[in-house]
Amino acid sequence: MAKEFEPITNLIQSAKIKWLRKAVADEELRSIVKENREEFDMLMTYYKCAMMEMETKIKVLREEFALEINRNPIEYYKTRLKTEASIVEKLQRRGLPVDLKTMEENLFDIAGIRVVCSYPQDVYTLAECLIRQDDVKLIEQKDYIKNPKPSGYRSLHLIVEVPIFLRNEKRPVKVEIQLRTIAMDFWASVEHKLQYKQKVASEEAEQLARELAECADMSASLDYRMQSIRNRISDIEE
Ligand code: GTP
Ligand code: MG
Repeated sequence: MAKEFEPITNLIQSAKIKWLRKAVADEELRSIVKENREEFDMLMTYYKCAMMEMETKIKVLREEFALEINRNPIEYYKTRLKTEASIVEKLQRRGLPVDLKTMEENLFDIAGIRVVCSYPQDVYTLAECLIRQDDVKLIEQKDYIKNPKPSGYRSLHLIVEVPIFLRNEKRPVKVEIQLRTIAMDFWASVEHKLQYKQKVASEEAEQLARELAECADMSASLDYRMQSIRNRISDIEE
């Protein structure tokens, strides 16, 4: 009997926690932002500029690729700046104090760019092209293509630092770059929308998670098959 109600209790509990977190985050955010409005806006502007720098790099590479190999490895890309609320929420989730210094030193994904390529090889080629640039400093690399997450998630994550040039100084700013194939992007987008964990019993959730991971494997093998077809065709063309 009690078991039947478990998912509902879980649901209420997690909704409560979510609401509380949000309430605390909102309150904390209001005071932090009010006290440091100018500094906060300035910092966010730096992140925005760094994101724009990375976007330009992607655009330049895309132009060059289009000229040289007459084939565009970059299907599409998307930039995003973390919202104030989600910055505070992430700091709190990690048990860190909510201030600008902690934010700068601990959150590396405030500025983000996601680049979607056609094939897995393109992901690595593009990553190399970016890291090789002498104003790009690689801080961290997480290869979830070679080592997928237990969920099945695949992507290559890079944290880089790019300089932005201000009136009186040059400032290195961190940007998170997520590189993936169309298939990886499809899986991640759909999986992200399936907020099933809190809504179903744990046994069912486990089963669903297994299936999703299986789908990710299938999707990955499709990626490599398509890539090998592409390679065979380009061998013939050469
Ligand atoms: P975050 O607090 O989420 O930023 O985690 P993290 O700092 O430990 O970074 P991680 O290497 O886990 O990658 C973070 C980002 O990768 C997330 O914000 C998502 O965009 C993406 N990601 C990671 N795991 C998954 C997953 O299982 N499913 C989906 N859909 N996306 C994922
Ligand atoms: Mg993140």
